[in-house]
Amino acid sequence: MKKIRKAVIPAAGFGTRFLPATKAIPKEMLPIVDTPTLQYVVEEAVKSGITEILIIIGKNKKCIEDHFDKAVELEQILEREHKDAYLKVVRDITDMAHIHYVRQKEMNGSGSAVLEAEAFISGEPFAVMYGDDIVYNPEKPCLKQLIDAYETTGKSVIACQEVPDSETSKYGIVRPGQVKGRYAEVLELVEKPKPGTAPSNLANIGRYVLTPDIFDLIRKCKPAPNGEIYLTDAIEMMAKSTGVYAYALEGRRYDVGDKLGFIQATIEYALRDHTLCDGLKRYIKDLAKEI
Ligand code: G1P
Repeated sequence: MKKIRKAVIPAAGFGTRFLPATKAIPKEMLPIVDTPTLQYVVEEAVKSGITEILIIIGKNKKCIEDHFDKAVELEQILEREHKDAYLKVVRDITDMAHIHYVRQKEMNGSGSAVLEAEAFISGEPFAVMYGDDIVYNPEKPCLKQLIDAYETTGKSVIACQEVPDSETSKYGIVRPGQVKGRYAEVLELVEKPKPGTAPSNLANIGRYVLTPDIFDLIRKCKPAPNGEIYLTDAIEMMAKSTGVYAYALEGRRYDVGDKLGFIQATIEYALRDHTLCDGLKRYIKDLAKEI
């Protein structure tokens, strides 16, 4: 079985939900406390053993490339001023992994975005990571859990978590077949079912380990009425042919593509930061008395 070395991170969307902040800044660069959301995703990939990362970028994404590139002038200044801790933070970003870029010309869905990665992947199994999902698990990163699940099953694996009934219409929902511990056979993957029609509460979150036959399946997908080609549809075809597993993740997941989820992530990451924790706790307690 080939090792998972490569990850694809689609980051070409317009981030309309965060306008006006995203008019000139990609949503992936919006920070949770002091770190862009995209960096959390890249760090998760690296901690999971990924060595090659392809970021699918669109227009206005130059600052993504700058962020992961060397910042010679800034490093010189930090060195001169003996700001060693900051210097390390800045250098670590560049040294993390080999990051490659491809520019998606037309924004026509997650399937089309992943298709841009075909040449880079060159026939290996690989990971797909959506920047809108951040999962906190200091013991075992989310992607590592999925890679282990792939090595156990030998099949494509999608990450899932249970969500309440009121939220099933926001996700791809799995119709599970046989369930064994954290593993469930995927019989069907229904993209954003209408309220009350979801086949389960098992929602797909934005982490996948896919075998390379996914590319041919994406090409076979019919565009949705809005013209977009969804990765979910190709995974659904795979589930019905060679088989796909859902793996119930361990970890605290934040939907940072949503404003409330973004704020929750900001508060909880700040509470985990020992320089901010005490002051923030005091502030939250005082505020809670007022509201
Ligand atoms: C995408 C997928 C959906 C999945 C979700 C996870 O939706 O299409 O199946 O459940 O990511 O975040 P989007 O968030 O792009 O609407």
